Amino acid sequence: MGLESKEHGGKRTRFPCLVTVRYMVAAVVSVLTVVVVGMVVTIALRPQKVVFSILRQHVYADTLWSSVTTKTTTVPAELSAGFRGRAGSLSSSSNPQQQVVTKPTYSAAAKISLGVSLTAENPDGRGDIEDINNITIIVLDLPSFSFKGLTEIHSFQLQEHFPLMRQSSHTLWTTATVNDAAVLSYITRRYGGLRSFVAMVQVNATIVSGTPVKTRPKVVTHYCWPVIVGMDEPGDVAKTTPCRPSEEMESPVSYSQLPALGPGPAPTVAPAA
Ligand SMILES: *[C@@H]1O[C@H](CO)[C@@H](O)[C@H](O)[C@H]1NC(C)=O
Ligand SMILES: *[C@@H]1O[C@H](CO)[C@@H](O)[C@H](O)[C@H]1NC(C)=O
Repeated sequence: MGLESKEHGGKRTRFPCLVTVRYMVAAVVSVLTVVVVGMVVTIALRPQKVVFSILRQHVYADTLWSSVTTKTTTVPAELSAGFRGRAGSLSSSSNPQQQVVTKPTYSAAAKISLGVSLTAENPDGRGDIEDINNITIIVLDLPSFSFKGLTEIHSFQLQEHFPLMRQSSHTLWTTATVNDAAVLSYITRRYGGLRSFVAMVQVNATIVSGTPVKTRPKVVTHYCWPVIVGMDEPGDVAKTTPCRPSEEMESPVSYSQLPALGPGPAPTVAPAA
């Protein structure tokens, strides 16, 4: 600039302005550099995204309740017509004047075995996940799609952990036994006589990204619904239930745990309407 000012003396008055422009350009370039470097660092340090899903929308249950068929009252034949429409089946008894009404009642199962298949996927090509660990799968009864009345059925604490290379997935199958009397009784009370019910699965996991930069472990929570808890194998056309990260939920999800039941015989309940 100093040389130029001697050679083009006549344009001297423009130089302060040019100097200002030069400084401004330099400032903008520096700011942009800082922003770009910041973005690169942020992206590099951001843990990889994991996508969870529940295979075949299904949580397998070996049973949900046990059925006790009680022969209840014997009813005079002339009254039985009225009962026929309501409940149970009628069989003729030895007495032609009387009929026996049998009505199933349901009692809580002694235990329920549950099994669920969880898939974890690292869909983008940016980096590998060094480890997914500390996985908890919580099965919640979902009585309404407004998420009201979510109730914990069982929480699986998985020992399993695994890495997830970029653009790869890992599916695991895990089983657990429900023997909490309060939960067994709750399922019978609500779903006695039914072979399945609708649930939500909550997945908690800790993610450690491996590349490009190893990150601090991040705890993530995902929700998967609807999922069917049932005794029947899903058909071949059964879809997968995708899970949604908690940050993408419109409102926070909360669920209740059933109060523990004291010792004593499991209650026997009438069938659901
Ligand atoms: C394990 O997960 C729970 C949430 O499910 C979290 O509070 C805890 O900090 C995690 N522990 C580790 C070691 O990541
Ligand atoms: C699941 O993770 C959330 C968020 O970290 C935590 O508040 C909750 O206690 C965890 N639940 C279980 C059962 O680990």
